[in-house]
Amino acid sequence: MTRESGSSTEGSFLLGPAAERGLQNEGKSILKFRMIIISALGFATLYSGGTAYLLAQSKPAATPLEAQKLSEEESRGEGLFLQRCSLCHLPRKLKFGSPPVIGPSLSGQFKDAAPDQQKILRGFILKGGPNMPGFQYGLEPKEVDDLIAYLKTL
Ligand code: HEC
Repeated sequence: MTRESGSSTEGSFLLGPAAERGLQNEGKSILKFRMIIISALGFATLYSGGTAYLLAQSKPAATPLEAQKLSEEESRGEGLFLQRCSLCHLPRKLKFGSPPVIGPSLSGQFKDAAPDQQKILRGFILKGGPNMPGFQYGLEPKEVDDLIAYLKTL
């Protein structure tokens, strides 16, 4: 009988007082860990707030880069250009077996295009050339306007 009760305390060794102490310790260390995380987060927010403040301070009123920013129309044109024209009109590194760059570079060509030159440009985009597809059925008139606005920024 006494042996049994003895063995029952022995049996409860794992879940006995020592184990409870262990659990308590674990609880404490979890708490400690949480405190560390919370203070780290606090520092992080303070720090990022600080850098945001510094950035706001150091930002000049208008940089030359901002002056070159594309208008909405021009950025729409850029998107269209990248989708529809860049395959042939952007210079790229050729890999073995890749098709050659077909179209001429358009950089700087239409910077100062007068309205009648823009009309010719529009006609060319719509009709295409000997080695360029026409886009009269592929682009809305508004999209051609956007493209021309973008080409003038190149
Ligand atoms: C399949 C290739 C290809 C695609 C796609 C293409 N082009 Fe071309 N592009 C050419 C080629 C090639 C020429 C030179 C004329 C020719 O051989 O047809 C050219 C010429 C031009 C020219 C006249 C340049 C000059 O110096 O006279 C313009 C402007 C032009 N392309 C604009 C565009 C625009 C805008 C798009 C997109 C909407 C576009 N191209 C899509 C191949 C292409």
